[in-house]
Amino acid sequence: MASSTSTISLLSLFLFSLLAFVSQAQVPANETFKFVNDGEFGPYIIEYDGNYRMISVFNAPFQLGFYNTTPNAFTLALRMGLRRSESLFRWVWEANRGNPVGENATLTFGTDGNLVLAEADGRVAWQTNTANKGVVGFKLLPTGNMVLYDSKGNFVWQSFDHPTDTLLVDQSLKAGAVNKLVSRASETENKDGAYSLVMEPKGIFLYYKSKNYPKPLLYSQVITIDKGSLDHATLKCTPDTDEGYAYDITLNYEAANSSSGGNRILARPKYNSTLTFLRLGIDGNVKLYTYNDKVDWGAWEVTFALFDRDNSIWETECQLPERCGNFGLCEDSQCVACPSSKGLLGWSKTCEPEKLTSCNPKSFRYYKVEGVDHFLSKYTRGDATKEADCGKKCTSDCKCSGYFYNQDASRCWIAYDLKTLTKAANSTHVAYIKTPN
Ligand SMILES: *[C@@H]1O[C@H](CO)[C@@H](O)[C@H](O)[C@H]1NC(C)=O
Ligand SMILES: *[C@@H]1O[C@H](CO)[C@@H](O)[C@H](O)[C@H]1NC(C)=O
Ligand SMILES: *[C@@H]1O[C@H](CO)[C@@H](O)[C@H](O)[C@H]1NC(C)=O
Ligand SMILES: *[C@@H]1O[C@H](CO)[C@@H](O)[C@H](O)[C@H]1NC(C)=O
Ligand SMILES: *[C@@H]1O[C@H](CO)[C@@H](O)[C@H](O)[C@H]1NC(C)=O
Repeated sequence: MASSTSTISLLSLFLFSLLAFVSQAQVPANETFKFVNDGEFGPYIIEYDGNYRMISVFNAPFQLGFYNTTPNAFTLALRMGLRRSESLFRWVWEANRGNPVGENATLTFGTDGNLVLAEADGRVAWQTNTANKGVVGFKLLPTGNMVLYDSKGNFVWQSFDHPTDTLLVDQSLKAGAVNKLVSRASETENKDGAYSLVMEPKGIFLYYKSKNYPKPLLYSQVITIDKGSLDHATLKCTPDTDEGYAYDITLNYEAANSSSGGNRILARPKYNSTLTFLRLGIDGNVKLYTYNDKVDWGAWEVTFALFDRDNSIWETECQLPERCGNFGLCEDSQCVACPSSKGLLGWSKTCEPEKLTSCNPKSFRYYKVEGVDHFLSKYTRGDATKEADCGKKCTSDCKCSGYFYNQDASRCWIAYDLKTLTKAANSTHVAYIKTPN
């Protein structure tokens, strides 16, 4: 017993030192530049309400820096916005989501061509993996693309190939590379959140991943194609006329063999809106933020929201899974009621389905809510079953919180997360919510 324990700990010690050795070996010893995350914090307001330290990698309106929202947990990120405009600095690219670094962390670019973010003790948190690949230089382009290039000027590595939740103009999602955006978990937590915007062969789709169910659930779609298979989708901004009175901000997409492609116009500002980015937000909404560098304050404008209060072309806010928090009835983008076994009560942020005491069918019953849809039912067809069978399926599934049934079409949806219910015009769309006896 004792000997096997010591073998394991010796082995893990060995593995640990091997890992530490491998990591440390990758901090460039002979640096072209090295920035240390130390000193005073900057005085301006930044996204996520954190602290920041800029470093001297700058190309207006972009600058590289470290920021944190909790002490000693820094993200290396690219900010957009100028001090002069006194507008919010927004973070449009990040190196190390989910793997923050501490005080005195370093960003080092070696003569070997590798760009490395490491803790003060040398442990590597993030790197471009470009050692000895012919990299001769580093620069930040005016588009916000940070590149490592070779002697011919080709990009060996570019930040545009590594989006997290944001796409700048001319940045793409690519099949066979990074094909999705993933939302941030919360303002304070910089790790992957519940939402993703995914470019798949047949379109660009929005998914919500709940804690209760392993499969991501479709809640909206941005583009769909019939022919071929999507290869890339790029955020573009082009002047609409020679005079440039209006600019079209579009999502351009192309299938692998160019058999199909096209663009979707998202917004049409009447000024030069080249400095725009698309963001999959913490709440699962997709917005365009446009920066007008000619404006001295209030330089940011939200030029598009996919889920919009006043917009009928795309979606209303009611289609956002968590528009009404954990539970609520949504109508015209507002949370109007908290459905309960006692009927519809006033909605507040504390509205929740009642907790079940057990899985045993004897311990719960259902209450019915008429004229509602679940966010699931808009883009998934549901099972073609009888209403009673839909109920049986939910009853026998411990994780089922309720079921939704469309009586006209005889379609059934099992819901693991109730979240936001949307008021439906037709009372034949019904929900049955589990409640304890
Ligand atoms: C870095 O490398 C160059 C060329 O190989 C060498 O001349 C220089 O002394 C090195 N600097 C350091 C700090 O090691
Ligand atoms: C960072 O480095 C400075 C200078 O070496 C040192 O005074 C300071 O204590 C370090 N901070 C932390 C949190 O390690
Ligand atoms: C290209 O698209 C066409 C149209 O759908 C399809 O029939 C064909 O198989 C595709 N070719 C390749 C090489 O993907
Ligand atoms: C529009 O703005 C971009 C970014 O600031 C700039 O590079 C470009 O020259 C501008 N276009 C015109 C026509 O002014
Ligand atoms: C509800 O759906 C049924 C069947 O599709 C239809 O006949 C009826 O007119 C609809 N009612 C409303 C209020 O839309």
